[in-house]
Amino acid sequence: MDAIQIRGGRPLRGTIRVSGAKNAALPILCATLLSDGASRLRNVPALRDIETTSALLRFLGRDVQVAAPEVEVAVATGEARPLAPYELVRQMRASVLVLGPLVARYGRAKVSLPGGCAIGARPIDQHLKGLEVLGAKIQVEHGYVVAEAPRLTGGEIVFDIPTVTGTENLMMAAALARGRSTLVNCAREPEVEELGRVLNKMGARVTGAGTDVIHIEGRAELDPFDHAVISDRIEAGTFMAAVGATGGDVLLENAPLDDLEPVVAKLRRAGLTIEREGEHTRVRREGELVAVDATTAPHPGFPTDMQAQFMAMMCLARGRAVLTETIFENRFMHVPELQRMGANIEIRHNTAFVEGVPRLTGASVMATDLRASASLVVAGLVAEGETVVRRVYHLDRGYEHIEQKLAGAGAAIERITLSPGTLP
Ligand code: EPU
Repeated sequence: MDAIQIRGGRPLRGTIRVSGAKNAALPILCATLLSDGASRLRNVPALRDIETTSALLRFLGRDVQVAAPEVEVAVATGEARPLAPYELVRQMRASVLVLGPLVARYGRAKVSLPGGCAIGARPIDQHLKGLEVLGAKIQVEHGYVVAEAPRLTGGEIVFDIPTVTGTENLMMAAALARGRSTLVNCAREPEVEELGRVLNKMGARVTGAGTDVIHIEGRAELDPFDHAVISDRIEAGTFMAAVGATGGDVLLENAPLDDLEPVVAKLRRAGLTIEREGEHTRVRREGELVAVDATTAPHPGFPTDMQAQFMAMMCLARGRAVLTETIFENRFMHVPELQRMGANIEIRHNTAFVEGVPRLTGASVMATDLRASASLVVAGLVAEGETVVRRVYHLDRGYEHIEQKLAGAGAAIERITLSPGTLP
């Protein structure tokens, strides 16, 4: 069982390269299902979620060659089966992104319902309602969604709430539907915009991706594509929060600064200096950290995927930060672990009141989701003494070689193997 061991208290100094965006690469990989040719993705991060998606695509009849940072997807010989089994979907909720492409491409899809997960119930009703608007007959049976439509037809889909993967699923379905579709109240995340770019490369006419109204002119067939994935804004934001916590001076290579505006604004108010240097971004903190409030919201609001890491940094700020989570109902799992490290946090409903403390102390900790685990790494980097973050497989889902990247910037951090029964 792997764990991350950190000896805290060293300011970060050096250069860290930001990888390709997980949440952009996952839908783009699923978009390869829309075409029969060989597609190539570049700047793909080496992550467990990419491996899971590759395994799913192989199961669906694709030949997937992964040589990070490149992935090639082609049609394999043999029958394609439009079935995403529970065993694969339960490992990663984003597997539901094959639903739209499969029903559009094969006229039928059977995809396991993902079920709840650690951060919340996360229903997919908006995905299903949207597919119905495009003419799919949907049934839920034995834990699976079965969607059928000989050929989808364009239509107007109005989302009740903006959903990232829901918008992406419907964009992919509409790209192969007959005629024009309009998607209203869409998620505006940069990863949605990126998928729009890829679908345009494939020959669909997509306008408005990245705004709340997207128009898509479907095509009977789509072409394969070659595409380099955008940088990961959340990974970049995580390293910024780490510099905020430890102090220091780090050059982030390929940080997508524009996509991070809502986070950067808060970090600057908290006392960080963040400046563009050509294509890269320099992040520094020399003075004191001050408390700043944040409320998560769909893009361009403060991202829920940065809430935990921002909170870890706020644990050491002067004053009281009020952090409110509005996207997922159970995304404070890092709080009890941060408290064990000496943080002063009180939770009331969906709001955390973080009273800054002068220091955190290292502890053996673990978390049950990706961003919560990242927040414990941030806390460990600044805590006195040793921190061991367990259940590293959560981190490996979304952070490429996080320990190597941080060690390259001077952190005392390494991956260790705990034998079963190891005492903390
Ligand atoms: N929702 C519904 N019905 C739906 C779909 C969503 O009620 O049909 C609700 C959700 O329960 C949630 C809200 O709408 O309360 C927003 O969820 P959304 O669908 O936007 O989330 P997602 O598409 O499942 C993506 C990211 C998440 C990120 C969220 C929010 C990917 C693969 N995942 O999830 O990333 O937190 O958007 O920005 O893009 C992560 O990387 O750690 C991560 C969890």
